Amino acid sequence: MLDIQRISKTFLPGTINEKKALDCVSFSAQDSEFITVIGSNGAGKSTLFGAISGSFPLDAGKILLDGEDITRLPEYRRSRFIGRLFQDPMSGTAPGLTIEENLSLVLLQGKKDATVFSRITVKDRDMLAEKLAELGMGLEDRLKQPVGLLSGGQRQALSLLLATLYPPRLLLLDEHTAALDPESALRIMDLTEKIARNSGATCLMITHNIQQALDTGDRTLIMSKGRIVADISGETRRSIGVSGLTELFRKNAGTDYASDRILLTDDI
Ligand SMILES: Nc1ncnc2c1ncn2[C@@H]1O[C@H](COP(=O)(O)OP(=O)(O)OP(=O)(O)O)[C@@H](O)[C@H]1O
Ligand SMILES: [Mg+2]
Repeated sequence: MLDIQRISKTFLPGTINEKKALDCVSFSAQDSEFITVIGSNGAGKSTLFGAISGSFPLDAGKILLDGEDITRLPEYRRSRFIGRLFQDPMSGTAPGLTIEENLSLVLLQGKKDATVFSRITVKDRDMLAEKLAELGMGLEDRLKQPVGLLSGGQRQALSLLLATLYPPRLLLLDEHTAALDPESALRIMDLTEKIARNSGATCLMITHNIQQALDTGDRTLIMSKGRIVADISGETRRSIGVSGLTELFRKNAGTDYASDRILLTDDI
């Protein structure tokens, strides 16, 4: 279980640009739970992911994972059990390396006895080809091609595979379909749900698409001004609809966000 306890973060304190990005945020997520996160631009959603990943020190609060306090654990150590995807398909893979090299790097990093001279085995290569085939994008036939040649959707699918090759305990998806064309976005969403289910990871997904937020996973958090202003699940979530959720946001966040891009995305 992920347990976030009263975490706060102010960027650039004491300057004219001081910004309280997280303001005493608390919530828990069960194992395998899939939570979608929505909120206006600058609400603190990505900062919440940064806090969970250990990208910066917190000002206050605690983060526990399965009872272990990870608040001060360095980012590189958390990356062993936290998979993270970003909006930019270019950020999750190394473009100059081939598909096989990208996968091998991640695979070897997880092997205890690996050295810089280690190579993947034939068995590993078969396993990787099988996993690539499951993505349904024909990447298994392109193992020797540089990742830079792939489309955004293909790269994002590969990033998803890299992030879950060793099943993570947490999967953080920060608008990971937002930069893709609608068809690729749908495909990546299908893959995301499948991979999240199979890996058993707790999954948090930021989206600006309210329909997607309601259709995906088990629960939705709304963030505004560094706080969680609504946490909906169960029957409420099933019946609320896009207009109901929009209304809830308006009421709880105390802002009219009709002009925000959160409302502009019917497509995924
Ligand atoms: N490293 C940083 N230094 C200074 N300010 C920051 C930093 N990171 C985020 N902020 C500020 O903190 C606030 C929250 O930013 P954050 O990126 O978490 O928003 P968000 O909810 O992800 O928005 P968006 O939907 O636009 O991605 C913003 O005002 C942002 O400018
Ligand atoms: Mg963001």
